[in-house]
Amino acid sequence: MRRGNEHVAMKITTVVDEQAFDATAAWRIIGQAVAKRDSVIGLSTGRTTGNMHRKVVEISKVSPFDTSALTIVGVDEVVNVPREYAGACYTMLKTEITDGLGISEENFLMLPTKSSDFPKACREFTDAIAARGGMDLLILGLGENGHLGFNQPGTPFDSTAWVSEMYPELEQRIRRETQTPEDIWLGGVTLGLKDMMHARRIILVAKGRNKAESVRKMVYGPLSEEHPASILRLHPDCEVLLDREAAALL
Ligand code: GLP
Repeated sequence: MRRGNEHVAMKITTVVDEQAFDATAAWRIIGQAVAKRDSVIGLSTGRTTGNMHRKVVEISKVSPFDTSALTIVGVDEVVNVPREYAGACYTMLKTEITDGLGISEENFLMLPTKSSDFPKACREFTDAIAARGGMDLLILGLGENGHLGFNQPGTPFDSTAWVSEMYPELEQRIRRETQTPEDIWLGGVTLGLKDMMHARRIILVAKGRNKAESVRKMVYGPLSEEHPASILRLHPDCEVLLDREAAALL
């Protein structure tokens, strides 16, 4: 795609509705797992991805595929909450997809919710991904402000896994739901933007009118750390999967 002087290497797929969105994404994940049975697949949590994860499990019941050597990697995690909290990324991925696919704990790589040494935990996490040959496929959600994982605007493009601030609306919701007192800091631990760019294939998924402006900036706005997702334009194999509403401003 080309606009003005700028080349955009992203492949953009727009589908008619939410069902097509979930099914298309689910088949991308299954296609990867079938093509390479020891694939390493990175997944994101949130409203965008829940149903596509459940769709993967649903399809696997009808049309089973081998998941015994598959590794699932969580892109990010909430810090200072119990792992069993329903909004923790570990529990979300576990209930949405990894349990349903029979993925063992050993093949389910997550950053911890609690640690006395997060920099060390981050290094161990990226080392574990590298030891398995890196991510074959990474599915990323998109923030309305352009965030990827917990990498908020202003995060350096060359960041590696780290502990970041959470955006205020999510911070308040999680604090309320977990009844975490004000004196305990809530943040997010996340793969860095550089780690994400090292995945061999990326699919950015976004649905709904509230994501349309962020999608537009990602595709056509300045290549800038102020809109972290714009870095995906530099990735050699990045697909953007959108419903019509998220694609409305392209
Ligand atoms: C959250 C998560 C991200 C996710 C994004 C989109 O903050 N940390 O991993 O991709 O926001 O969430 P949603 O799909 O609910 O809009």
